[in-house]
Amino acid sequence: MTVLLTGGAGYIGSHTALSILNSGKEVVVLDNLSNASPEALTRVEQLTGKKAPLVVGDCANREDLEKVFSQYKIDQVVHFAGLKAVGESVAKPLMYYRNNLDATLTLLEVMQEHGCFDIVFSSSATVYGTIQEMPLKETFPLGCTNPYGWTKFMSEQILRDTGKADPRFHIVLLRYFNPVGAHESGQIGEDPSGIPNNLMPFICQVARGRLKELAVFGNDYPTKDGTGVRDFIHVMDLAEGHLAALSYAEKHAGVEVFNLGTGTGYSVLDLVHTFEKVNQIKVPYRIAPRRPGDIATCYADPSKAKEMLGWSAKRSLEDMCRDAWNWQKNNPDGYRR
Ligand code: NAD
Ligand code: UD1
Repeated sequence: MTVLLTGGAGYIGSHTALSILNSGKEVVVLDNLSNASPEALTRVEQLTGKKAPLVVGDCANREDLEKVFSQYKIDQVVHFAGLKAVGESVAKPLMYYRNNLDATLTLLEVMQEHGCFDIVFSSSATVYGTIQEMPLKETFPLGCTNPYGWTKFMSEQILRDTGKADPRFHIVLLRYFNPVGAHESGQIGEDPSGIPNNLMPFICQVARGRLKELAVFGNDYPTKDGTGVRDFIHVMDLAEGHLAALSYAEKHAGVEVFNLGTGTGYSVLDLVHTFEKVNQIKVPYRIAPRRPGDIATCYADPSKAKEMLGWSAKRSLEDMCRDAWNWQKNNPDGYRR
């Protein structure tokens, strides 16, 4: 059984590659390396003792995809490839729609032509928009607040319509909450280029002394300490969620959607203080104004994934903070792209 991971050299893709290889399946990666280093896959190979061949190419380019499907017998696909920076998507919407939607459309066409019908798609909790009722259930109405989110919303719709029209498809849509942390070896992890936008990588860079202090965006939200609350999920739990989704796709035709979260919300200051405690390191911070577009609270109802996929997150906030710092400490400059 061979699984193609589009965008598989990236943060979540590399951790998932490791889990899939350890489960006994083969992996092939297609990545244009626009936000990744091939070193991530070299390390996955070192950790697993198995090959994870990388085809450098674009998922929106039919020829590149044809090459992969002709060279390998692909049984299943996990579609990670996409651009993911919310702020950048507001500034460059056409680039986001072009890249993320073309990648999904071309991939589905080429899969259909090659008789491959199992696909797991990386969606995001961002498709729930500004809903305030928590926890978020898969049945809630959707709506987005930025072009990045709309590309996930539209890709979900493209996949739903494709599954409806062609009953040979087995489609699983995974809505990730806030993935953080790294593999426990400290050999692979999140490697954002430039100044990080997201909380955990920012904290790591402050702890390391590369950035002076964390700006906590708002302490006047209606939450227990006034700071934003999120459903942080360990990236290895998320990787294992993909294994469960691939097994589900093997057996089930049609389209199904699952939240991948822990079901527990922690505040920005919970994360800062837990990071300080488990790693015995100070994270200087100051309170700053709210970040435009942020919501107060966001956490999943993960019960559907538990019931239907037999998957639930196992790792604690302490594990997430320890493993994120272990990666950062071992690799102060990431993969040195
Ligand atoms: P990432 O940027 O590390 O990985 C995405 C990978 O896709 C990168 O390696 C990049 O080089 C590649 N890529 C982008 N466009 C491509 C294209 N056209 N052809 C081939 N490769 C291409 O991001 P990640 O955090 O690993 O996220 C993986 C997926 O999960 C993305 O689709 C992202 O939108 C989604 N997601 C991420 C988060 C998160 O917080 N990290 C949350 C929800 C959803
Ligand atoms: C962001 C994206 C979301 C995407 C997710 C995962 C926005 C508006 N949303 O979610 O679409 O799916 O990343 O990639 O960008 N925070 C600080 N200081 C910082 C950074 C963050 O206080 O320097 C706070 C934020 O205000 C928020 C929390 O930390 O309350 C988490 O932020 P972040 O890691 O950026 O994730 P989200 O905003 O939840």
